[in-house]
Amino acid sequence: MKLLEGKTAVVTGCNRGIGRAVLDCFAEQGADVFACVRTVGEEFKAHMGELSAAHGVEIIPLVFDLCDEEAMKKAVGEMRKSRRPIDILVNNAGKITPNVMFQMTPIDNMRDIFEVNFFAQMRFTQYISRLMQRNGKGSIVNLASMAGLDGAPGQLEYVSTKAAIVGATKTLAREFGPDNIRVNAVAPGVIDTDMGNEMDSEYAESIIKRSSLGRKGSPEEVAHTILFLASDLSSYVTGQVIRVDGGVKIGNRDIR
Ligand SMILES: NC(=O)c1ccc[n+]([C@@H]2O[C@H](COP(=O)([O-])OP(=O)(O)OC[C@H]3O[C@@H](n4cnc5c(N)ncnc54)[C@H](OP(=O)(O)O)[C@@H]3O)[C@@H](O)[C@H]2O)c1
Repeated sequence: MKLLEGKTAVVTGCNRGIGRAVLDCFAEQGADVFACVRTVGEEFKAHMGELSAAHGVEIIPLVFDLCDEEAMKKAVGEMRKSRRPIDILVNNAGKITPNVMFQMTPIDNMRDIFEVNFFAQMRFTQYISRLMQRNGKGSIVNLASMAGLDGAPGQLEYVSTKAAIVGATKTLAREFGPDNIRVNAVAPGVIDTDMGNEMDSEYAESIIKRSSLGRKGSPEEVAHTILFLASDLSSYVTGQVIRVDGGVKIGNRDIR
């Protein structure tokens, strides 16, 4: 049996990286997907067609920048018009900024990244959670980060947005519990995507070295944890942040 048969999911930032792996995995598991993207190239258009044909699902592209409130409203209007009950929301899209030490970080840079990684996600969640409330159920999965749990030197603004996502995940799990809406997050470590590869390479290497598994993660490995949280397999799990980091926190056999 497919894990998401008959469900409709909304996934942001699914043209590349972790979001794309989520899109592929959800389609394979039978979900129709509102694919929320800022950029749609010919390759991605063809990919959506291939997914629909291979798995018998509908992939509906909604093209907007998450920071454009009017465009977001329009996209939500499209979802409403479709009259499909929304079962799953994956708040995946996000950005990272180059490494700068705290005292050199302009406050405006902090505001900028909060706009994408936090405020836009919360605005979108307000809209989609209303649709879920009408439907009497739902599962929301947020993309936090190992950095939001442990801190990361030179990354104060990114780390703070992800720590805010952790706080929001726990708070929304409590607020939405009575509506039968679960809210969880995943906290990836170093993942092999454009963003993961933009990280300071020495720092990324040091994290990988002290992890139990001693390697980068793949976007598919993150997507599989998101699939668990999105599906009914996790029906009694809410308010949790699952690390998908190859065991960074527990360390490797050389760390005693
Ligand atoms: N990779 C890692 O090592 C890692 C580790 C921890 C957490 N994460 C988190 O996992 C999530 C996905 O990361 P990733 O590695 O897949 O990143 P990625 O490869 O850089 O992809 C980022 C995605 O977010 C979209 N996006 C960014 N700003 C947007 C905006 N204003 N409006 C709409 N879409 C926007 C991008 O769209 P465009 O293609 O149009 O730019 C792209 O689809 C992020 O939230 C990230 O913080 C990643």
